[in-house]
Amino acid sequence: MTEFPKKLSAKLTERQANNALRKLPIPNGLIDFSSNDYLGFARNEAIFKNASNILQKKGVLANGATGSRLLTGNNGLYSELEDFLTDFFGSESSLVFNSGYDANIGFFSAVPQRTDVVFYDELSHASIRDGIGLGRAQSYKFKHNSVEDLNRQIDRLREGKTDSDIYVVTESVFSMDGDSPDLEALVATCKAKGANLVIDEAHAVGVFGKKGEGLLNELQLQDKVFARIVTFGKAMGCHGAAILGSDALKSYLVNFARSFIYTTGMPPHSLATILSACEHIAATKGGQNQLRTNIDFFKNELKAHNLQSYFIPSNSAVHCCLVEGNEKLKKWSQQLQENGFDVKPIMSPTVPKGKERLRFCLHSFNTEKEISKVLLQLSNLF
Ligand SMILES: Cc1ncc(COP(=O)(O)O)c(C=O)c1O
Repeated sequence: MTEFPKKLSAKLTERQANNALRKLPIPNGLIDFSSNDYLGFARNEAIFKNASNILQKKGVLANGATGSRLLTGNNGLYSELEDFLTDFFGSESSLVFNSGYDANIGFFSAVPQRTDVVFYDELSHASIRDGIGLGRAQSYKFKHNSVEDLNRQIDRLREGKTDSDIYVVTESVFSMDGDSPDLEALVATCKAKGANLVIDEAHAVGVFGKKGEGLLNELQLQDKVFARIVTFGKAMGCHGAAILGSDALKSYLVNFARSFIYTTGMPPHSLATILSACEHIAATKGGQNQLRTNIDFFKNELKAHNLQSYFIPSNSAVHCCLVEGNEKLKKWSQQLQENGFDVKPIMSPTVPKGKERLRFCLHSFNTEKEISKVLLQLSNLF
């Protein structure tokens, strides 16, 4: 092997010195307070078996897609899945991508044009920021969940520029904070200012909505946005994503979203698994009620242990306890792990310095005893 470049070695050394070197973890079999598998679908036997049934019934005996969807990879399961998603999420159209990361970079690199402007929440997921970075539009961040700041910035822009299309993007549940913006206020602002609102629902799908359709559906706002990004790797327990929007948006993305065009399609069994997971939640709600009960119980236990003030307020399945500094954070998460609980440290630079945190992901399968115990352990660390 050739020598590893010195500049790159220096960057790794710097990460190490900052206690921020990322390493691939080994599965530890501890009590799960860290995965995004909020409903336990990733190991749900009924979903697994039904996915196989779907493939068998259709006589699909294929391991791979064989090409891009625009060439040979667009097998029949895609249209069945997209029809299901369109109906389930209440949209005009849907387009499946290989992942949420691909969906966001595909959308934001292709849709906003050179003369357009994108406003994004300062805590937006890396996939949104990377997509914006690949695109040609000007972009500005607004303060986290601040509709006031967004309003101010749009007004300032409109004073000088009148011909730009404006895109506003945020998440309905923030992946590293668990909190949510005021979606009603955002919809009203975007309507008043003529801006196109795009909402990433990665961590809301399966958790909010009557059958897990997301927070926009829960608030009956699904028709008031330009596009939604839904992903299947979190509560749906599998992999992949879809962009929901108009037929015109779908056609545009098929023609211009490079992360859609220049990649091999999904293998049929991935599509069957997404379909199976979606059918399961549509038919049974998939443990959503139990997840909600657990979220409420967790919040009550925070109060009981006087821990509330250390946590970012959240109604979602993600609850974060701020613990400043990578070193202390690592130590605390290690102590929780030694006591049997898998709670992950979210270190800087994944989150800003000073905002390091323990991220508790709640699940329908966590028991009240587990929740009480992990919070008792946490309170002993303060
Ligand atoms: C808000 C948000 N959007 C998009 C993604 C990317 O989704 P995927 O894991 O399907 O690539 C994530 C995943 O971490 C996310 O948290």
